[in-house]
Amino acid sequence: MQDLENIVTRAAAEFAAASDPASLENAKAKFLGKSGELTALLKQLGSLAPEEKKSFGQSINTAKQQIEVALDSRRKDLEQKKLESRLSGEALDVTLPGRGRSRGGLHPISRTWQRIEEIFGSIGFDVADGPEIETDWYNFTALNNPENHPARSMQDTFYVDMKDSGGLPLLLRTHTSPMQVRYARMHVQQFRDKAAKCPPIKVIAPGRTYRVDSDATHSPMFHQVEGLWIDEDISFADLKGIYVDFLRRFFESDDLQVRFRPSYFPFTEPSAEIDLQFASGPLKGRWLELSGAGQVHPQVVRNFGLDPERHIGFAFGSGLERLTMLRYGIDDLRLFFDGDLRFLRQFS
Ligand code: DAH
Repeated sequence: MQDLENIVTRAAAEFAAASDPASLENAKAKFLGKSGELTALLKQLGSLAPEEKKSFGQSINTAKQQIEVALDSRRKDLEQKKLESRLSGEALDVTLPGRGRSRGGLHPISRTWQRIEEIFGSIGFDVADGPEIETDWYNFTALNNPENHPARSMQDTFYVDMKDSGGLPLLLRTHTSPMQVRYARMHVQQFRDKAAKCPPIKVIAPGRTYRVDSDATHSPMFHQVEGLWIDEDISFADLKGIYVDFLRRFFESDDLQVRFRPSYFPFTEPSAEIDLQFASGPLKGRWLELSGAGQVHPQVVRNFGLDPERHIGFAFGSGLERLTMLRYGIDDLRLFFDGDLRFLRQFS
């Protein structure tokens, strides 16, 4: 009996000392396991006289139950402790203020893009979009820029490995001008199918363009907007009127220094470059070339699918980065693509 009480007391003490489920199970094995202390006493029962056997057996059972109760209660304690520590570890302080999201803003080039669409949209220009990976034909040949013509070298670009394009010469477009041909041909086709008179072509096509160029006013990827207006009586004077009006609205000023400078492009005759003077910022007073422009060359009008004796008009291609630099007085175009939030935040 003494032994049994002693075993129960020691078992309870060891269970209480077990600080995790594994050591509790080890402690249990020490008393109730196959070679545990209580099991050893049970094995002795066989050698006792029947009377003793009965009372000793009962005492062992009672002791076993007491040990099991102690074990069970310690198990529950440990589980409870585990739960409590998990809960306190994962506790959320619901009284903390939320982590606010900072306000996003449009990139300055996107703002320019939107303004251009708004301004030209308001005077009846359609907005078109086309592929940045272009065929050699649309980018050069259709624009009166034949293979091996020296004018091609003004626009070096990135070529797609011919093995991947099934032999069709592909390149990253060097300007948005191929959109003149794509849009015009689609437009002409559409009305030819309906046997109707072809209405004027009046479109802008903003988008990304690529060249092997990199300095403060050139980036290998940049944006242009192409403009095209073809009808039966659209002249260079219309180009000047429309373009200067666009600039006045874009820069919200009537006091702009604009200059049309004679130039050469294979797809226009006559051709001009349009320059604007910086009115503010570190480059104040300097001229920046904004745009190429001109009266569309008869060969290009023919490539549109139209008769150059009857259809005439103008085209222009302007740099969105250049427009943005002039609008905000920025002196280095590479700032647009560095992703520096200190720069970008100034526009949001
Ligand atoms: N595509 C020319 C360039 O990127 C710019 C240009 C010149 C566009 C004359 C035109 C144009 O539409 O008529 O340098």
